[in-house]
Amino acid sequence: MGDKKRIGILTSGGDCSGLNAVIRAIVRRAVGHYGWQALGIHEGTMGLLRRPVDYEELTLKIFTGNVLRMGGTILGTTSTGDPFAFPMPDGSEADRSQEVIAGYHELGLEALIVVGGDGSLRILERLAEQGDLRIVAIPKTIDNDVGFTETCVGYNTAVYVATEALDRLQPTAASHSRVIILEVMGRDAGHIALSAGIAGGADVILIPEIPYAIEKVAAKIESLREKGRNHALVVAAESIKTEAGVTVGVKDESGNVRYGGIGHYLGERIAELTGAQTRVTVLGHLQRGGTPTPRDRLIGSAFGVRAVDLVAQGKFGQMVAWQDRRVVEVPIKEVLAHPRSVDPHGSIVETARGLGISLGD
Ligand code: F6P
Repeated sequence: MGDKKRIGILTSGGDCSGLNAVIRAIVRRAVGHYGWQALGIHEGTMGLLRRPVDYEELTLKIFTGNVLRMGGTILGTTSTGDPFAFPMPDGSEADRSQEVIAGYHELGLEALIVVGGDGSLRILERLAEQGDLRIVAIPKTIDNDVGFTETCVGYNTAVYVATEALDRLQPTAASHSRVIILEVMGRDAGHIALSAGIAGGADVILIPEIPYAIEKVAAKIESLREKGRNHALVVAAESIKTEAGVTVGVKDESGNVRYGGIGHYLGERIAELTGAQTRVTVLGHLQRGGTPTPRDRLIGSAFGVRAVDLVAQGKFGQMVAWQDRRVVEVPIKEVLAHPRSVDPHGSIVETARGLGISLGD
């Protein structure tokens, strides 16, 4: 492949909208500006585990105009292949981290740009430490729970989709005099629920950071009725628990809980307590796919360009972050030590309360 400087790019963890804008920006900067080679590694660390190492050279020719607009990731991704606890066919787990490290070194990379959320960054940082990998990270996750950055790639699109869902649910709720519950993703953080709930005119927003009492939710619905409203919109973050403190979801292959279904529980309880007709929409992966919003394309592009510049400056072990309308860099270790859930006393919660939205407390 010649003597050109060579960088790797991988996307890891759950996909989201805006990843292709990131990949495009990295290639434009690395190949177009610096004249380096860019190798796109397939399916996150899986590509580095396979032999031969599974990658493709990313040239400017690939980006003919449509990739920027596409959801998903052209490189593929994985959220189930932790190399430190790799699921083997016989059901056991194996530490295959050394194979991933060897795959990285085999490619002769100057550095690897990793686009991932909290979980992926933790794995990549561990690999970097053990195997002398030079990495620069770009935060992406619809959950927006990565520390030190105001936003992550994919979050804005998810909020847009959830808000649009509320725009569509409100007229049908009003037509049928119903209470409609919209369950949104976000893992252990309530960012999507809170922001979309405010933007989409929800009456009740339930997030894991603020424990709720179902009686308070019912009281809010009763009070709306007393004021003459015939319907209500409730937004529930997927990870809130039942009144008995039980998480709703299914166990995946690695024994981790995949959230989903709390909306149905709430629908039944609200119907019991208020007598209202309830309906439930679980928004699911619609929040992750589709065309990225302009903001996710912009942030993704800014992150991609800066990540390549950090490689050029030899600044490794850093994550690019969005703070105060600009891109900055923060040590990945710092980021991992400070995940970012909703601040129960922050401005966005205050806004919800100020609007008279019930948070169920
Ligand atoms: O972390 C992103 C996310 O979409 C979460 O909001 C959600 O809980 C989870 O991933 C779903 O994971 P999967 O794609 O494995 O179902």
